[in-house]
Amino acid sequence: MREIGTVGVIGLGTMGAGIVEVFARGGLRVVGVETTQELADRGRAILQASTDRAVKKGRLDEDGQAEILGRVTITTRMADLADADLVVEAVPEILDLKHRVFGQLDDIVGEDAVLASNTSSLSITSIAAGTRHPARVVGMHFFNPAPVLKLVEVITTLRTDEDVTAAVVALAGRIGKKPVVVGDRAGFVANYLLFGYFVSALKMLEQGHVSREDLDTAMRVGAGLPMGPCTLMDLVGLDVCHHIGEVIYAHSRSPMHAPSTLLERMVTAGLLGRKSGRGFYTYAAPGSGQVVEDEQTPSTAAATDLSAVGVVGTGELADELVSRLQDGGYAVTRVEDPADRAELARLADVGLVVEAQAPAPPPGEEELADAQAWVEATGEDLWEALGEVVGPGAVLTTVNPEAAVAVGALSGRPEQVAVLQVHAPTGNGQVVEIGRSSATDDATVALLREVVTRIGAEPVVCRDRSGMVVDALLVPHLNDAVRMLDEGYAGVADIDTALQHGLGYPTGPFAMIDQIGADEVLAVCEELSAGGTGLPADALRPSPLLLEHVLLDRPFTS
Ligand code: 3HC
Repeated sequence: MREIGTVGVIGLGTMGAGIVEVFARGGLRVVGVETTQELADRGRAILQASTDRAVKKGRLDEDGQAEILGRVTITTRMADLADADLVVEAVPEILDLKHRVFGQLDDIVGEDAVLASNTSSLSITSIAAGTRHPARVVGMHFFNPAPVLKLVEVITTLRTDEDVTAAVVALAGRIGKKPVVVGDRAGFVANYLLFGYFVSALKMLEQGHVSREDLDTAMRVGAGLPMGPCTLMDLVGLDVCHHIGEVIYAHSRSPMHAPSTLLERMVTAGLLGRKSGRGFYTYAAPGSGQVVEDEQTPSTAAATDLSAVGVVGTGELADELVSRLQDGGYAVTRVEDPADRAELARLADVGLVVEAQAPAPPPGEEELADAQAWVEATGEDLWEALGEVVGPGAVLTTVNPEAAVAVGALSGRPEQVAVLQVHAPTGNGQVVEIGRSSATDDATVALLREVVTRIGAEPVVCRDRSGMVVDALLVPHLNDAVRMLDEGYAGVADIDTALQHGLGYPTGPFAMIDQIGADEVLAVCEELSAGGTGLPADALRPSPLLLEHVLLDRPFTS
């Protein structure tokens, strides 16, 4: 097999400089090439800053840093790549430019050298078609930040030599990366799945379903992802996102990838994310990751004088809420049997009622009686009675989803009604979603934000729609991974590796589905499909393969 000892990297922007660092840390000699001395100096500065940070954090000693930097030559002469066994280009995403670069390389490097592209949006096949030896061309797609994220997508074309692929895979393993080999398709694995999710997140923002902060909290804390979509798009660059999104849409033609007008407007207005100092958020300076306040930053609401809370219901969730509300300093009145109106009258002085009876169980035969009881107990009578019993300023909530409008209408106080969806904790904390109807007032929302914070969770406020934010974004994203598997583009292990190591997810999507339960994922998909979410219908339609796994009771991972 080909031995790779010296590598070249062309283009030393964020990605190129990161790739140089990855190779140098892996013990290879690296030649980094830029077009001007100024850009070459900027590339070296990125490398210096990244390794300085590792030294400061004690992850690297100064000798180690000197050794890494000593392996790197930075130059403005392409001819210095003559000895490279592999060259990775990370120049701007312009096909002509890539053809020019690879055309020059054809005259410089040896016949055996491998030519790789870090493109995230162009087809490797069309890049290879502009070279004299397409058999030695592959994609080698790194993820930002390249020194941290371990995924390398190795993209082959119909012409790529097996020997070339094997050498690149072996090299990626040698430098501590996780290679995944896939064919040449728009977005490859990770971006293709990421961008379906981005489009839905952008729709939510555009529709005013949720604020940027709450959207990010929902996905970081509620779904356990390393970053929310707004923070991540700002990191990647909104122009880059827009471009990749268009390429994926051109391939799929699916409304779930339809370019977002919000993103397009932001790019046209020069809001490109961290690099321009402003994207979804505003940053301390161009290139900085430090978010500063702007006109969209929510003001910190004044504390309310809520002290007494009523919890209606029995069951685990009701028990948990009672103890967490008590720990949060509230006086809690528990009503276990709401049908007993004398009991209900004990809620006369509370400022907030949380109806937390067990949600309607699935309508299996055995549970049918319970389901009926739940419907009766939480039906019109309860909400009308509560509306009459509690004081005029009190807020009414239910943990049973999509009920804000009905409860608002029945209780006669729609301004003071919302739905609470309590999510299981993730590695990043716990989210409680607060679903408001068009009538819910801001004071009610502020009060509920305060309560959620005091019970140790993070509030996410959105409209009361199927799946709120967390489920409406996460579940279709998981379903999309199943669809990719069904299309035969990549296998379970590769898709899991791609999202875990390319996007920093705590586990891959199939491991997540098995953890949540495929039946639960399917049920949410079906509910989203039937309910009005405002998201593209094809994003929500359950994959037939998901249904198969549920019916056959087969996990995706073993
Ligand atoms: N360069 C080098 N190292 C960096 C870094 C950078 N730019 N940013 C963070 N790090 C290191 C830190 O030094 C730290 O190292 P340590 O563990 O040795 O101390 C480690 O990464 C964790 O960093 P922080 O503690 O500062 O912050 P977080 O824990 O929040 O991690 C993150 C930051 C690694 C960026 C994490 O939030 C993450 O993985 N986010 C998801 C990013 C993602 O999805 N990237 C892919 C985007 S798509 C793409 O790139 C494809 C392209 O085609 C568009």
